Amino acid sequence: MKSILDYETVALVDEDDAIEIIDQTLLPGTIETIRLHTGKEIWDAIYLLQVRGAPAIGVTAGFGLYLLMKHSEAASYEEFMEELKEKSDYLNSSRPTAVNLSWALKRMESHVVEFTGTGKSFDLSKTIEEMRAESERIKAEDIDVCRRIGENGLTLIKDGYGLLTHCNAGQLATCKYGTATAPMYLAHEKGMNIKVYCDETRPLLQGARLTAFELHSAGIDTTLLCDNMSASLMKTGAINAIFVGCDRVAANGDAANKIGTSVVATVAKRYGIPFYVCAPTSTIDINTKTGDDINIEQRKPEEVTEMWYKERMAPEGVKVYNPAFDVTDNELITGIVTEYGVLKSPYDVAIRKLFEEHKNR
Ligand code: MRU
Repeated sequence: MKSILDYETVALVDEDDAIEIIDQTLLPGTIETIRLHTGKEIWDAIYLLQVRGAPAIGVTAGFGLYLLMKHSEAASYEEFMEELKEKSDYLNSSRPTAVNLSWALKRMESHVVEFTGTGKSFDLSKTIEEMRAESERIKAEDIDVCRRIGENGLTLIKDGYGLLTHCNAGQLATCKYGTATAPMYLAHEKGMNIKVYCDETRPLLQGARLTAFELHSAGIDTTLLCDNMSASLMKTGAINAIFVGCDRVAANGDAANKIGTSVVATVAKRYGIPFYVCAPTSTIDINTKTGDDINIEQRKPEEVTEMWYKERMAPEGVKVYNPAFDVTDNELITGIVTEYGVLKSPYDVAIRKLFEEHKNR
């Protein structure tokens, strides 16, 4: 039988002018792929978390922008760019925190500018074909980058380790391996004995529905716990290291990730457990100075008050606090695992150096 790991998180189905995704809101009970054809369908799928996780959102946006421009009838470069910017802004408005969304859209736009020599050699069909190729490159690079994050993260794991993760920074959040889970998959591939503990991740349960599902399907020793149990677990000594993903790393190393991540990092510091943030460089935003400048998505109160029950599970009229992400202060982070290596504090210096050395990104 096909396992969840045999499915592609995001795929371009060019002949049908569609993006195919696994509808992640139905997991783990139902594995169902859906095709997104229109801008509204793509926007909704990102907003509703049918496709989610920073890198997967970026890949979807790249494919989306290509598909929305594929049948453009623009008569000039200027017209083409105007249309492209409008579609790009629309897709970019679906979720605010994961920088991979705007990163992928900007990358697509810059590629068009470069490919056409800022319009000097504009040819409609060649430009559209080049957008397709660039969107496929974003996906291929995601797989390569995650693998390299896995290799760098693996250097931080020893045989017998207990590892904790929060939310889903797994294969379902990327195109393969995941970021935080990549070292786990590689350790498992190498026959190392590891135990992975997954926070369930209220309110949308990405840890329970997605991470526990994919790791368990891969045959990794997986244990699920409620978010409020992680301190007691850390106190037992069962956790040797923590790996989480992130949605945006600021220039000073502050890292936004799923709500609850900063609680895990704070408790980890108390118990002296190394806390690693796994981040492709596409998730590092040098234009955002600190975590205070990161736009944290606020989501609907109903996700907290009635999402998982047939009936309301909180009193009518009660106020709800429902930020989708929080920011972990850089001083709580032991290392930022990128595809180029593990960055260490002071992160402003390490991040600047990383961008100087890899300017061509
Ligand atoms: O709201 P979500 O499910 O998109 O949040 C996802 C996360 O917070 C992930 O940890 C993050 O995007 C990194 S994915 C490699």
